[in-house]
Amino acid sequence: MSASIEIDNVTKRYGALTVLEDISLSIEAGEFVVFLGPSGCGKSTLLRMIAGLEDVTAGTISVAGQRVDTLPPGKRGVAMVFQSYALYPHMTVKQNMSFGLENIGMARDEIERRVLSAAETLEIGHLLDRKPQKLSGGQRQRVAIGRAIVKEPKAFLFDEPLSNLDAALRGRTRLELAQLHHRLGSTMIFVTHDQVEAMTLADRIVIMNARKIEQIGTPMDVYQRPASKFVAGFIGSPAMNFLDVETWTQHADGLSVTTAGLGRVETGLHVPATAQPKGATLGIRAEDLTVVPQSGMGHALTAEVVERLGDRSLVYGVLDDGTKLVVEADGRSVIKAGDRLIVSADPTAFHLFGADGRAFPREAH
Ligand SMILES: Nc1ncnc2c1ncn2[C@@H]1O[C@H](COP(=O)(O)OP(=O)(O)OP(=O)(O)O)[C@@H](O)[C@H]1O
Ligand SMILES: [Mg+2]
Repeated sequence: MSASIEIDNVTKRYGALTVLEDISLSIEAGEFVVFLGPSGCGKSTLLRMIAGLEDVTAGTISVAGQRVDTLPPGKRGVAMVFQSYALYPHMTVKQNMSFGLENIGMARDEIERRVLSAAETLEIGHLLDRKPQKLSGGQRQRVAIGRAIVKEPKAFLFDEPLSNLDAALRGRTRLELAQLHHRLGSTMIFVTHDQVEAMTLADRIVIMNARKIEQIGTPMDVYQRPASKFVAGFIGSPAMNFLDVETWTQHADGLSVTTAGLGRVETGLHVPATAQPKGATLGIRAEDLTVVPQSGMGHALTAEVVERLGDRSLVYGVLDDGTKLVVEADGRSVIKAGDRLIVSADPTAFHLFGADGRAFPREAH
């Protein structure tokens, strides 16, 4: 009950407006893939094209090796769960879950079997006779998932299904969804602009921006080896620090990079001989910067705002040239606004992006 999904050179245009351009993506059977990106980047559109709710302008989509972009939604073997659960208010939970199956003329006892089994999986068996207005947001959400499960689809498509839930319930439902995926083993595509959801749920994340896929990778891939400045700035909280590169010099053991903020730093990175420092950006995450004792070696930083998160503190400060920098400090640290600190950077943790925004990978020699 799980299928691969193949998206080949798919383009979507609304009149003169190109929303997605030449998108290709292979999803393995049983994989949990998350589409992540800023609002308006085309996540829902791509999902809706897989579901059959939008036509493709060009390209093909296949499910389990069979081309589906020419088939109506009901014939594609996929089930979609929406952000607005779209339950029928006058029907009970059980009727809401049965309705789609009755419509295709499925036998009564088979419908009964599927609804009861889905209700058990989702722990909503005690709610079957209730109407949606007497359910909490989280319960409605599970009914909407139940309605998808009873179809026994080859793939589930979720469009921001958790965004109407409060923070605590959202976290719990996220875990339940991960367990559900584990239990059903179905292919799942999940759209979100919440990077925590993406990082925790995904086998692979597809990061989208401006009509294109920026990077496809495991959560750790996209976090540790962002392929572009966009991905580096989008994944991770707080966002990665970026510094404009002034010059660099190549040595056998890596590149010395000079920025106004940090002066000259050794990065251990290698770039092609033709690469130019003009327009390049040096990146480093807050967690790869450490506050060291006043007598230590490092960069002088004046703290402006300190965010205390309990387990850690985030120090937002400014370097002597005016460059802003956020640094992670211990949760028990007593740093306060106005303090002058010495900050040192982990030399193995620098990222470097060319003028075109693409990363120079650490592995490249
Ligand atoms: N029917 C339509 N006609 C014209 N433009 C559309 C239509 N539907 C969507 N768009 C445009 O396509 C782009 C992608 O929309 P889409 O809904 O896929 O974004 P999204 O990534 O899901 O954003 P969000 O995170 O806000 O849900 C947007 O710029 C949107 O304005
Ligand atoms: Mg959307």
